[in-house]
Amino acid sequence: MVFVPRQSISIGWFEFLKAVFRLPFKSSCGREVKRWEELFARFIGVPHAISFISERAGTYFALKALKQINNWEKPEIICPSYTFFSVPWAAKLAGWELRFADVLREDLTMDPQSLIRQINHRTKAIIVTHLNGKPCKMKEIGEIAKSHNLRLLEDCAHSMGVKVNERQVGSWDIGCFSFGDGKSLGTFCGGMITTSDSQLAKSLSEILDRFPEQPKSRIVRKWFDSLLLKVLTTGIFYPLLLYPMLRWFGYLSADSRKKDFLDFIKYVAEKDLTFKFSDLQALAGISQLSSLDRRNSIRRANSVVFRANISKETQEMMLPWDGKEAHTMLHDSIVLDHGMNIVKRSLAKGIDVRLDYCTNCRNLPGMENFPGEDVIGKKLDGKIFFVPNHLGVNEKLSKRIAFELDKLILESKAIDK
Ligand SMILES: Cc1ncc(COP(=O)(O)O)c(C=O)c1O
Repeated sequence: MVFVPRQSISIGWFEFLKAVFRLPFKSSCGREVKRWEELFARFIGVPHAISFISERAGTYFALKALKQINNWEKPEIICPSYTFFSVPWAAKLAGWELRFADVLREDLTMDPQSLIRQINHRTKAIIVTHLNGKPCKMKEIGEIAKSHNLRLLEDCAHSMGVKVNERQVGSWDIGCFSFGDGKSLGTFCGGMITTSDSQLAKSLSEILDRFPEQPKSRIVRKWFDSLLLKVLTTGIFYPLLLYPMLRWFGYLSADSRKKDFLDFIKYVAEKDLTFKFSDLQALAGISQLSSLDRRNSIRRANSVVFRANISKETQEMMLPWDGKEAHTMLHDSIVLDHGMNIVKRSLAKGIDVRLDYCTNCRNLPGMENFPGEDVIGKKLDGKIFFVPNHLGVNEKLSKRIAFELDKLILESKAIDK
């Protein structure tokens, strides 16, 4: 039997330890945050990078600032129908009207044709998500935004370090990055806005100047949450602690996306977003930036091995990727009609296949009546699952996961017939 958790945490053990010693001196926003922002801006290839305590905070304040700078009363933004719920939520909270464009069947990123159909005289911005690490059709979407004079926000939570035609994602107009647990780079939570727009950057810096420093207790809580996840998904701790809870008590095994969304809107408000990023978190980011490519390559290599060792039938159920196309492979996705059944049966083999936490946002309470299109998003909602390909997996394990999952999938297909 193998034991494969659903994800791994990119922050190293030594980084956790260093954070403890830094806490008394580095919990405020100072020189290290400046250095982190400069390094990050250079990495993306834009003049400005501004740190926030999360991506949702950055997106929210960027949209608020755009509204203010341009004196837009009720501007409209077009979001992908299928994405993480914080994306449309941040726009709504910032006072934008929402409209959805459908996604493409091949990778669930925004469909440029659907986007064109949604543009109207009130549209002022588009936000796209490079879902799972696969860049959107940026050539087409960039041209659409330019020809209609629209601002273009890129949600790069899954796609840090990926390029389209030698250009980093997040460099088109406004890039939104997340450094939460489970992302390619973690800073005990955090986010960044990247842009070439000096007026927007100035406005965001002024907004941030008014924020208080994070209380030390908040940083400790985030550090502890990340550490707990690291412990529960590493080595001997996983089979001893988390695995039994998943396998025998059904912990994290149900589709809780609606409940998560309701909790999210109940407990997250503007006041929860208004803190400065800290030097301690910036130092964690700086230490991982130079090894980002290596971490993305490990995921890609694991996916190549997995895909080479499954049957043609199972290969056709994966979201297509040829092994060379630009992709961080933060998540390697498979479309499963009876996914929850596979989740239970693969867990019995020790492999934690996970339901995608993103949703067709129009399926969420309160978002059903926003205008737009979501035919593909609706069809695939609840059917996207992640095959473990993270940093805790290697070539040998990928082959084993491929063997076990392929067998399960083919068996359940045979039962269906
Ligand atoms: C696609 C996507 N966008 C945005 C976010 C929000 O990032 P944060 O948690 O830093 O606010 C996430 C978080 O998981 C995400 O997966």
